[in-house]
Amino acid sequence: MPDSQFVHDAFSSIAMRYVAANHLLSLGIDVLWRARALEIVAEWRPANLLDIATGTGDMALDIQRELPEIQVLGVDFCEPMLTVAQQRGLRHALQADAMHLPLADDSYDAITTAFGLRNLPNYADALREFRRVLRDGGHLLVLDLSIPTGIVAAPYRFYLHRILPLLAGWFTGQREAYTYLGASIEQFPRAGAFIQMLRETGYSCPTALSLCGGIAVIYTAEA
Ligand SMILES: C[S@@+](CC[C@H](N)C(=O)[O-])C[C@H]1O[C@@H](n2cnc3c(N)ncnc32)[C@H](O)[C@@H]1O
Repeated sequence: MPDSQFVHDAFSSIAMRYVAANHLLSLGIDVLWRARALEIVAEWRPANLLDIATGTGDMALDIQRELPEIQVLGVDFCEPMLTVAQQRGLRHALQADAMHLPLADDSYDAITTAFGLRNLPNYADALREFRRVLRDGGHLLVLDLSIPTGIVAAPYRFYLHRILPLLAGWFTGQREAYTYLGASIEQFPRAGAFIQMLRETGYSCPTALSLCGGIAVIYTAEA
């Protein structure tokens, strides 16, 4: 499981170049993944929503802009990332640890977390903490990276572990943060195991939507 202090320092060090590096390394495809997540959130019509591990705010800003009727709060423990989110227009931000949210039980209709859960020190405990804050019947959406199956798995792993740290290291000056990225994706449960974890942590109706052959997955579940 990821070490919180390392994760905090890694994101602090890349905050200023995070948005550009993301779009470069995913060839802009992350924008399409977030757009699909946004469509799902729109169907739920929540009154309020927490975007956990909001980082520089991409997901929260999309929701704030496209679904202005939703009250969005972006949460992250890394101040430099949140500062960028606020400079980009995020109206409501909270610096807090996702593992111990300073928020009341049953207080949110929806939670999203994009490329965030994978970085937390204990996935099951985090899911339980999110469940505590969600109202009964509320919705969870987790968008995260995975390893595709089949013949693309080997070339993808080569890109992830060999090429990407070099490219991103050159672009951000923080190669270690991107070596960590590959390791964290390998560690994160695959779809079947994650669906099981959602059930075991108090969610119902879990679904997994594979994107780009499994490079990313959108999970949804009900509290
Ligand atoms: C890969 S970024 C994702 C940012 C954003 N959601 C996006 O879609 O680009 C992961 C974020 O998780 C945050 N994070 C990691 N561990 C955290 C924790 N324990 N509590 C709150 N935020 C955390 C990091 O600070 C970082 O901003």
